[in-house]
Amino acid sequence: MSICTIVGNWKMNTTVTEAVELVSAVASGLSSEISAEVVVCPPFISLVSVQLALHSSTISIGAQNLYHEMNGAYTGEISGGMLKNICQYVIVGHSERRSIFGETDVDVNLKVKAALGTGIAPIMCVGESLEERERGSANSVVESQVRGGLEGVDIGADVVVAYEPVWAVGTGQSASPEIAQAMMAHIRGTLEKIGGKDAASRVPLLYGGSVNAGNVGEYISQPDINGALVGGASLDAESFVEIVKVAASKS
Ligand code: 13P
Repeated sequence: MSICTIVGNWKMNTTVTEAVELVSAVASGLSSEISAEVVVCPPFISLVSVQLALHSSTISIGAQNLYHEMNGAYTGEISGGMLKNICQYVIVGHSERRSIFGETDVDVNLKVKAALGTGIAPIMCVGESLEERERGSANSVVESQVRGGLEGVDIGADVVVAYEPVWAVGTGQSASPEIAQAMMAHIRGTLEKIGGKDAASRVPLLYGGSVNAGNVGEYISQPDINGALVGGASLDAESFVEIVKVAASKS
């Protein structure tokens, strides 16, 4: 794997107008050849406007969630079939969805399968809480999230895994590159047990949690880190462009 993947998760931020302004600024900041896969994940209501604004760009689009059924009486939900002509990626199992909306590994697994079934690459998020890390169970928690979310899934398909320790998300307390790498090696090892060494080596592993232009280079330099999932800093075009440039120069 040579090129890195940098994903901006805008979460519940930006109006449609703001989303178009933000993505246009990112696209013009990255107009020269950049050797990175860049993905922006705006809110659902801005996906189409962002797609139109990106018409001649190589930037990819991701959704922040999906429901596993294809259609029907599921008020308020969005399916993979609705996203497939717009998005190349979809975030599933973000820690905010797990903790605020009660998503379980079973839900995450259904979503991963639904995404792959419609030709969208799932970015499956895993990560331990501070309490779980302090009690020494970070590895087992993350391993069971990886195994549960990927139950019955061919990891040779387009699966991306993002490790986002909950204590590092939105806190400014990023994990040290050593902690991040140690967990990534554990995730890679778990993927090897699930789908073999070859398939596991091709799964992009992203670090997320207070990533900025100042620390992204250290993450990308780690052997098992292939990119970053960026929250807050992806809402500022200049910061996000800088993150992509630094990451591309280190990968
Ligand atoms: P921050 O970069 O704001 O910590 O958010 C990380 C995140 O949750 C990305 O999905």
